Amino acid sequence: MKALEGVRILDFTHVQSGPTCTQLLAWFGADVIKVERPGTGDITRGQLCDVPEADSLYFTMLNHNKRSITLDTKNPQGMEVLWEMAKVCDVLVENFAPGVLDRMGFSWERLHEVNPRLIVASVKGFGPGPYADCKVYENVAQCAGGSASTTGFRDGPPLVTGAQIGDSGTGLHLALGIVTALFHRTTSGLGQKVDCAMQDGVLNLCRIKLRDQQRLEHGPLKEYSQFGEGIPFGKAVPRAGNDSGGGQPGRILKCKGWETDPDAYIYFITQTPVWGAICDVIGEPGWKTDPDYAKPAARLPRLNEIFGRIEQWTMTMTKFEAMDILNIYHIPCGPILSMKEIAEETSLRETGTVVEVDHPTRGKYLSVGNPIKLSASPTEVTRSPLLGEHTDEILRDVLKFDDSRIAAIMASGATGATEAPSRVAAE
Ligand code: COA
Repeated sequence: MKALEGVRILDFTHVQSGPTCTQLLAWFGADVIKVERPGTGDITRGQLCDVPEADSLYFTMLNHNKRSITLDTKNPQGMEVLWEMAKVCDVLVENFAPGVLDRMGFSWERLHEVNPRLIVASVKGFGPGPYADCKVYENVAQCAGGSASTTGFRDGPPLVTGAQIGDSGTGLHLALGIVTALFHRTTSGLGQKVDCAMQDGVLNLCRIKLRDQQRLEHGPLKEYSQFGEGIPFGKAVPRAGNDSGGGQPGRILKCKGWETDPDAYIYFITQTPVWGAICDVIGEPGWKTDPDYAKPAARLPRLNEIFGRIEQWTMTMTKFEAMDILNIYHIPCGPILSMKEIAEETSLRETGTVVEVDHPTRGKYLSVGNPIKLSASPTEVTRSPLLGEHTDEILRDVLKFDDSRIAAIMASGATGATEAPSRVAAE
């Protein structure tokens, strides 16, 4: 039995943040029923398409292990079906723009009245405050959550990161909120509202920069390379390139082949307990006792010089050869891996972190698997649903509607053309 088997989710999510959350719950065994607009479905089905007539990778990689029902919520019959679903589900998850759910008549108060056990979980861009009504996408959240102002190089503009900390990050936060509310329900018997704002989620992941903001009020941030360069700090935490900025200074350093391979680099950390080993490995044994280098505080103003010397050593070998040597001495380091290298890494396939999935119209493709491994509830990744693939099955088996009721719903146009899913041929 899967960890969340028996939990039924009304998945009213779209794009990335909400679908990340519900995919995770599906991977843990919940029955996730995705409600989609007839005809188009989740907008990402048709975005960034690479294979004609097939659901995009954007959609397939965020909606594994789910079922799909098409329902037009602007059709009274569609809303009627939705209310029936709200009665038999444990959790409703949504990430519409602020106000959309209320406009549908799906207010928390009304949902709670109809199904007191229902947990209603929402992602919005911002929490209550000046931007509460704003629509938000990933990069807006990265900017408003403190990530962009602290990412990049000091002499360049703010930068967004490729890691989707606003969307997927907030989806992860929301999933934790949902399972916590499910746990609470076992004693309270009641559902509750779970809200995650993307700005809050990003800030939660950027907390060390809020730490440094406060440290800055007490003096310069000595772990940032600009300290050693003699460049004064301003009023806010600066962008610090690839400095770790923490207690164990680190940098990205060139390795053999960097002139032609954009990923021939290694992240190297000068962890204090292995400082002696680092000195020996790079051929500077004298630094172990030299008062300018022996102690962490003495090294801080010299980080550029120290990493420059270490880089002379890393440039003599590939990132993997450097890894092999540094690991003998337990020196913390990591290769800069390209997506190509990650896709081809056999150990990630073996752990199910990268999986190959077969899809009726697109064929085989790679996806991330569940990064959270439960010993008694392993994840089996199954393909994303075709648009409306399970409409009939859900009306019949979940809602227990009889033939005449289903026929009336179909005739009303509430489910669209369910017999022939719109974007794809039947399997
Ligand atoms: N049938 C009919 N209409 C449907 C429907 C269905 N099954 N599902 C949704 N709709 C309608 C909604 O009722 C809404 O209509 P309304 O504005 O007339 O009330 C409409 O679709 C659009 O919803 P909205 O959420 O505003 O979509 P959008 O494409 O304009 O905005 C976002 C997209 C992501 C910017 C916005 O949803 C948002 O800010 N979400 C919260 C933050 C978030 O999660 N952002 C990250 C996304 S990865």
